[in-house]
Amino acid sequence: MVNKYFKRKIRVSPIPVIETAKLRLRPFILKDSHRVQLLAGDEAIASGAINIPHPYLSGVAESWISSHENEFLNGNSLILAISLKDTGLLIGSIGLYINSKHQHAELGYWIGKDYWGEGYCSEAVSGIIKYAFEKLLLNKIFANFISRNQASGKVLIKNGFVKEGYLKKHVKYKNDFEDIECYSLLKIDYFQRRN
Ligand SMILES: CC(C)(COP(=O)(O)OP(=O)(O)OC[C@H]1O[C@@H](n2cnc3c(N)ncnc32)[C@H](O)[C@@H]1OP(=O)(O)O)[C@@H](O)C(=O)NCCC(=O)NCCS
Repeated sequence: MVNKYFKRKIRVSPIPVIETAKLRLRPFILKDSHRVQLLAGDEAIASGAINIPHPYLSGVAESWISSHENEFLNGNSLILAISLKDTGLLIGSIGLYINSKHQHAELGYWIGKDYWGEGYCSEAVSGIIKYAFEKLLLNKIFANFISRNQASGKVLIKNGFVKEGYLKKHVKYKNDFEDIECYSLLKIDYFQRRN
């Protein structure tokens, strides 16, 4: 008789896992929803990131996570949970919003406030851009951030991104219109920088 445990299928996500020195960038699972709501729901995250809702309502994380696999398979995005390699603790999120026709992607990320300033975001960015240029064969990655968010700018500059320009009073946060800085990294410059 076949053991029932051997008959159970192990479901493997098509979304890749990327490892760096201290981090494992892995697919989100539905069980992460509560922690995502807790971390991303901190106003410090919505204040820096352009598109994160505040308040971060129940159910938002579940539907966001549920969309990742199809969006990846359709070539639209690669969204990964940032977790600590040694403990498995989920500390943030990083993603590429891909335009296949133009072989470019917009990069976005957030790190839970308790984990800021440890170099985690810079390390996560270095992992995902390596994958983007080597495996997804992208030609360009760009990122936009609110001008007052200089930590985000630092993360990009440390990874070789350069400023392309800025958009004046482009987004509204609370009652203020804020400037956006636009940074990018080209494939050619990424590989030249590595050699
Ligand atoms: C931006 C963010 C992702 C950075 O994450 P992090 O893990 O703390 O980043 P790192 O530790 O890798 O690097 C941050 C760098 O910014 C620097 N920094 C932090 N606050 C700064 C400030 N107010 N001004 C200038 N530099 C600052 C740090 O010193 C560090 O640089 P260093 O390594 O040369 O010392 C995190 O603050 C965050 O999630 N913010 C809210 C969401 C957000 O802004 N997302 C980005 C939207 S574009």
